[in-house]
Amino acid sequence: MTRLFSAEAQRWAVRTVCLGLLLLLGGCRGCPKSQPPIHLNPNMDSQPKYRAQAESAFFADGATMRTPVEGTVARGAMPMADPLHTGRQGDGFVVGIPLPVDAAVLTRGQQRYGIYCLPCHGDQANGRGMLYQRSQIQSADLHDPRIVAMPSGEIFDTMTNGLGLMPAYDYSIPVADRWAIIAYIRTLQGADGESLSVPNVVPNDGSPTGPDGGELTTDGEVAAPGSDGGNEGVSG
Ligand code: HEC
Repeated sequence: MTRLFSAEAQRWAVRTVCLGLLLLLGGCRGCPKSQPPIHLNPNMDSQPKYRAQAESAFFADGATMRTPVEGTVARGAMPMADPLHTGRQGDGFVVGIPLPVDAAVLTRGQQRYGIYCLPCHGDQANGRGMLYQRSQIQSADLHDPRIVAMPSGEIFDTMTNGLGLMPAYDYSIPVADRWAIIAYIRTLQGADGESLSVPNVVPNDGSPTGPDGGELTTDGEVAAPGSDGGNEGVSG
């Protein structure tokens, strides 16, 4: 029988196959390594990044995660269920303005009304602002006896959640400013501004609170909440 290949050629073939098998085996992940395996086409498979709990040589405390800025309140962790933040008390609405109202608050309310409400409700609050002048779409006339008689908490609720065409202002207008706007609207409706404040708010836990978690004392003053954090204070 004649040989197709010489003995020499056969030996080389066996060696080549063995070498190939060895190389293949070398690719198997037998032992874990800190370096990633050779990756001929990495695309963007591995990118440098910090893991939350990892160490960092960059920050002085050696931790990758930063602690929140002092005074930070996590979304949803604010005491949002109390009358000051909802305008609701028990089964009904807060009747008066649960914050002290003075000239500075009314000025603030007028300014905020001019920014947020006037384009639709008009400077006289008759519902005929620029929206009406341009498109004949009338917003509610705030002199409507129904709205004049409406508890302030219900107006607060409308502002917070919106109604029909009217957008919600819970994110764009801070709580104290919403009450200040209502105080200003009450003066447009003919009320005597200074007599508006009715600190009748008693939250569920029985301890009256003001904005920023400050105590609401019986005479309607908001006591300091311990720090001056928060941006909901009314300033003139
Ligand atoms: C984009 C136009 C628009 C803006 C801005 C707007 N409103 Fe309105 N508002 C309306 C319309 C329209 C209605 C009538 C809604 C309905 O009855 O469906 C309304 C209704 C109301 C009512 C009556 C609610 C009721 O129960 O009938 C109040 C109170 C009110 N708005 C207050 C405000 C205040 C305060 C602001 C500013 C923070 C404001 N609105 C901003 C369009 C607007």
